Formats: sequence, C-alpha cells, structure tokens
Amino acid sequence: MDKTSIHGMWSSRMMFVLAAAGSAVGLGNIWRFPYLASDNGGGAFVLVYLGCIAVVGLPILIAEVLIGRHGRMSPINTLRKITRDQGSSRGWVGIGWLGIAAGILILSFYSVVGGWTLHYAWLYLKQLLGGAPLGDPALVFQSLLSNPLELTFWHAVFMLLTTAVVALGVEKGLERAVRYLMPALLVLLLLLVVYGFTTGRMADAATFLFRPDFSRINGGVLLSAMGQAFFTLSLGMATMMTYGAYLPRDGISIPRVVTVVALTDTSIALLAGLAIFPIVIAFGLDPAGGGPGLIFNSLPLAFKAMPFGTVYGLLFFGLLAIAAWTSSISLLEPGTAYLAEKRGLQRRKGSALLLAGISWVIGLLSVLSLNVWSDVKVPAGINVLGGKNIMDIVEFLANDLMLPLGGLLIALFAGWVLSRTVLREQLSEMPEWLFNTLRWTLRIVAPLLVLVVLVQVVS
Ligand code: TRP
Repeated sequence: MDKTSIHGMWSSRMMFVLAAAGSAVGLGNIWRFPYLASDNGGGAFVLVYLGCIAVVGLPILIAEVLIGRHGRMSPINTLRKITRDQGSSRGWVGIGWLGIAAGILILSFYSVVGGWTLHYAWLYLKQLLGGAPLGDPALVFQSLLSNPLELTFWHAVFMLLTTAVVALGVEKGLERAVRYLMPALLVLLLLLVVYGFTTGRMADAATFLFRPDFSRINGGVLLSAMGQAFFTLSLGMATMMTYGAYLPRDGISIPRVVTVVALTDTSIALLAGLAIFPIVIAFGLDPAGGGPGLIFNSLPLAFKAMPFGTVYGLLFFGLLAIAAWTSSISLLEPGTAYLAEKRGLQRRKGSALLLAGISWVIGLLSVLSLNVWSDVKVPAGINVLGGKNIMDIVEFLANDLMLPLGGLLIALFAGWVLSRTVLREQLSEMPEWLFNTLRWTLRIVAPLLVLVVLVQVVS
C-alpha cells in the first residue's frame, strides 16, 4: 500500500477532519436541509433523514474514505488499481466515472446558489457602507432570480473562487480555506439560535422539526431524505474517496474521524433548523412549503429587526458563502485529480479550469430556468418529475438518483469486492464484532435500503 498520494497529503488528522467537515458542511446544511424539512412535512422528514445518516450514510462514509486511503489516487485510478490487484471486474471503475459526472452536475447548480449567497453578502456590505436598507426580502429575492445577468455574474465569481483553490492543490489550497472559517460560522449560527429564543417561538420551531407526523411519509419524502443524507455528507460521488486518498495511515482510525465529521455535519444542519424556523414562525411566514427561497426570504426579516442586523447579515451570508466554497472545491477535486494524473501533475491548474468551465456552462441552464425559461416545466402530476423546472431536474438526477446509486455501488464494492484482508487492515482499530457488523451493513443492509427507496420511486 502506498503511504502517500502524489497529489499531496493532509498535514494532520485534524486537517482531514476540518477538510472533510468543510466539504460536508455547506449549502446542504444551511440552505437545503431547512427548506426540504419545510417542504416535506417537518418532523417526519427529519426522522427519516437522521435514520439514513446513521444506517446508510455513516457506513458508506467509512467505506469511501478507506477505499481512498488504500488506493491513494483519484477515484478512477484507485478503482482501476484495486480491481487489477484483486482480479475483479473493471466495470467497478464506472463508480469513479459516475462520481466525477455527478460532481460536475452538482457543482453546476451549487455554484449558482453559492452565487446567491455572495450576492446577499454584497447587498449587506453595500448597506453597511451607507447604502439604502434592503427592501421586502421576498421582493429582493425575486428580483435576484429574475435577473439572468446578475445570477450569471455571481455564478461566475463563485466558480472562479472554487477553481482557484482546487488549482492550488491540497496543502496550499484546500487546507488554508477551512482552518478558521468553519468555527466562525458555527459561532454565528449559535448566536442565531439564541436570537431564535428571544422571538419566543423556539418551542413551535422544535415541534415542527422534531414531532414526526407519520402520515406525511411517502415515497417522495423517503427519497428526498435519503438524497439529502448523501448530499449533506458529500457521499456517493467519490469526494470522500478522494479526501481519503490524502489521509495519512499511521494511527488514524477512519471510523473515529469520520464519526466526528458526520456528527458535526448533522449538528450544524439541526442548528440551522433551530435558527431559521423560529424566525420563520415569528415573522408570520408559513413553516411549510418554503422552497429554495426559505432562508433568503426569512433571515433578512430578522436581520432587519435585530440590533446590528446589517453587520450580522454581512457576516452570515459571507460565512455561508465560505462554507459553500469549502464544499464546492470538493466537488471539483475528484475530476481534477483524475485529469492531473492523466495529463501530468503540472497541468492541475488547466484541468481544474477545464472542468469548472464545463460545470459553469451547465449551470447556465439552471440560471435560465429561474427566469427566461421559468415556464419550461414537466407537466404536473406525471411522476416524480412532475412540476419540476430544469434546475430541479438537474438536482433530482444528481442528488436523488446518482448519489444514492453511487453510494449503493460503493457499499457493494467495499463489502463484496474488496478483500476482507484489505478492509480489516484499513479498519485495524475496530473491535471484531463492530467490524463484522459494518461489513454486513455494507454487504446487505445499506444496499438493500437504498435499493428499496430507489425502486419504490421508479415504480
Ligand atoms: N455536502 C455539501 C453540502 O452539504 C455539498 C457537497 C460537497 C457534496 N461535495 C459533495 C454533495 C459531494 C455530494 C457529493 O453543502
């Protein structure tokens, strides 16, 4: 087994945890989780989501990281190497291709939404420097969405920021971005939760989020909850496999470090929920059906009402943009690492730029689907796709189908293809019973659960 990766290594266990948590914590926690909970009936969705994290997400997260650490290359070449060593089918390399494709697709709309957060940070900055206060939040958000040039501009800025870090490589680029900024975001989120208490509506928010109404659970809710579990942990597209390739071997227990990552990620999503829903309720908005505009329509109301709200708004959206940034780099890294292996390491910059360019162009479809093409929709009620616009469809394909499918294949690969010896060697710190439980979860339980959810949606 190689001790190091040619792309560089995390300088410590702590750096891996920060980078992996930086990848996991992003728009998925603060933008997507609250609005999915809002659209899918609150508590029932949250419960299924937490179940998916524990039973499916965590085992697959361990699998991805250990496959990466064993192979030490980009996902495609890691899988090539392992299938060659073990004499198994080359077809498994498809997981790497699927992952890179999913990454480019996800990045395409992730960058558009990342651009929204930059735009909001900019609005608050202007206001702080003496500009007119923001108007009615719903109108502000609507006017952003209806302006394709503005959206395209911020989408481009966000994509360039992402490309710059990935071009610089592991030590110089990825590590620097995460060291201080993640803790700052956490502090700000905690302050928002405290503000939530002052509105007097915390209890209502908690009821909405944590009291499950089981009659609300249907196929669509199950699929969104599972897709979100994969999305929020950056699973199913070999991001974590790539980050695992840069993880040092000695004395670092994968299950232990990734559990920290998963707990951090889950806590931040729940905190975001507890920060946002009291505000939504206190300002008379409907907690149900908030849609993708939820945080943009609700939080500015609180920033208007609280002392120093403008500073707060700037900090919040600025840090959210940064959290999104430390995630978006992990969407671009797997493909870039592969191209750099293929074309020569000195061509990392060009490789990052090429893939980001492709993703940016695909993102223009999402931009246009918010305004010029907002009427282009699948007719309502046909199937799961009914009523979706282009951006929704890209999201659905990538998040709800490709990620779970990728995760399913990764679980099967780790459980059935990877030899028990390799698996054991990577998980040498685990007690035997836990190791066996994990192995059978990867072999049977996780794939079966994913399959059941996927099949009942298609049928
Ligand atoms: N997990 C990130 C978020 O919650 C998004 C993300 C980064 C991602 N890398 C990924 C999602 C890989 C799926 C796969 O915002």
